[in-house]
Amino acid sequence: MFSARLHSRRLWIGAAALAAAASLFAFQSAHAGYAPSALPDRIVTTWTAEPAASFSVTWRTSTAVSKGFGEIVEATDGPDFEKAARRVEAAVEAYETNQGPAHAHSVTFRGLKPATEYLYRVGDGSDAWSEWIPFRTAAAQPEPFTFLYFGDAQTRIRSAWSRVVRRALETAPGARLAIHAGDLINNYDQDAQWGEWHEASSAMHRSIPAMPAIGNHEYGRGAEGRRRPTVNWRPQFALPLNGAAGLEETNYFVDFQGVRFVALNSNEKLEEQAAWLDRLLEKNPNRWTVVFFHHPIFSGARGRDNQRVREAWQPVFDRRGVDLVLNGHDHVYARTRLVRGDGGTEGGTMYVTSVSGAKMYDGKAHPAIEKIIRHTQFFQVIRVDGDALTLEARTARGEVADSFRIVKRGGAKRLIAR
Ligand SMILES: [Fe+2]
Ligand SMILES: [Fe+2]
Repeated sequence: MFSARLHSRRLWIGAAALAAAASLFAFQSAHAGYAPSALPDRIVTTWTAEPAASFSVTWRTSTAVSKGFGEIVEATDGPDFEKAARRVEAAVEAYETNQGPAHAHSVTFRGLKPATEYLYRVGDGSDAWSEWIPFRTAAAQPEPFTFLYFGDAQTRIRSAWSRVVRRALETAPGARLAIHAGDLINNYDQDAQWGEWHEASSAMHRSIPAMPAIGNHEYGRGAEGRRRPTVNWRPQFALPLNGAAGLEETNYFVDFQGVRFVALNSNEKLEEQAAWLDRLLEKNPNRWTVVFFHHPIFSGARGRDNQRVREAWQPVFDRRGVDLVLNGHDHVYARTRLVRGDGGTEGGTMYVTSVSGAKMYDGKAHPAIEKIIRHTQFFQVIRVDGDALTLEARTARGEVADSFRIVKRGGAKRLIAR
């Protein structure tokens, strides 16, 4: 008995020393770079198919986990829901980051009921699972809903951007999706920056799908000498493959409850996307159209005019009656009124640029900008309800700093701005 106790005490001391060493290592590795483990992390929901009947999830593990699984079940109030869960095997993709190799896993849950709360979890099929996470499918018809929009996070992501995400979730806990208008991070292939981004947004994106646009900071010149998107982009986001050729998962669209959401890639292939968008919006059954991309049509800071983007895309927005364009890149909050490229007053498009992170720019805005607010971190809460779309630009502390409403009556569109 005595020797057994002594033995267990020695074991305990040994275990404590190991734990101390492990926690030191964990701190160092977390600080240096968010190393992958057997446990799923960087869990992000998205849509790659019909939002009323499906959703997709991606997550990351170390390469020791060679298979991944998702499980899903309709949510109940009792704890016995697990028994009815069904399992889907994940697609596994090995990718190499500047901090070493990792596995990206992705599943798409299909055949779901509309407007229904589910619980899902992801893991290795035995011990290493995420928690059960609630997720609500879209209604099959147009229904009022709220979504979030963030401008560039980019720098001091962990230290100064995370608070903006927290306040956004507190303000709009029922938000159904979140748009990121590019420059999510600062240096395209720096995996530790992606670690900060996922840490700061994980509570949101486990339940609220991400719709990211790709910014110039997600591009870089790799060892091969060619400018290309970060190696992290495609493994970590499962996005629709319905855009222009050569822009897979950076140019795409999703229809959600009466709104067509379109992501464009303003870094390359502008003409190809203009033609693609024109065809896409020729037959659009949705009442509202929201387009988002990184480089603003109307710049909010000096010397940053994106004439090529404006000339390529604004005529399509005008012709197809795009309601709202959401941009980043200029590190200010800046919006127009309903404007058209030909100076007309019928219809028109509202252009908004915003910033959620810590980097800020000064300078003179394009004359089309009606409202500009500088040196402030923002998130936007946007509500679509029948004939009205309302945007609130809220500061990091949650104050409404700007708001407007677009109202549609028949073919006419009018702006109410405060
Ligand atoms: Fe930026
Ligand atoms: Fe940018």
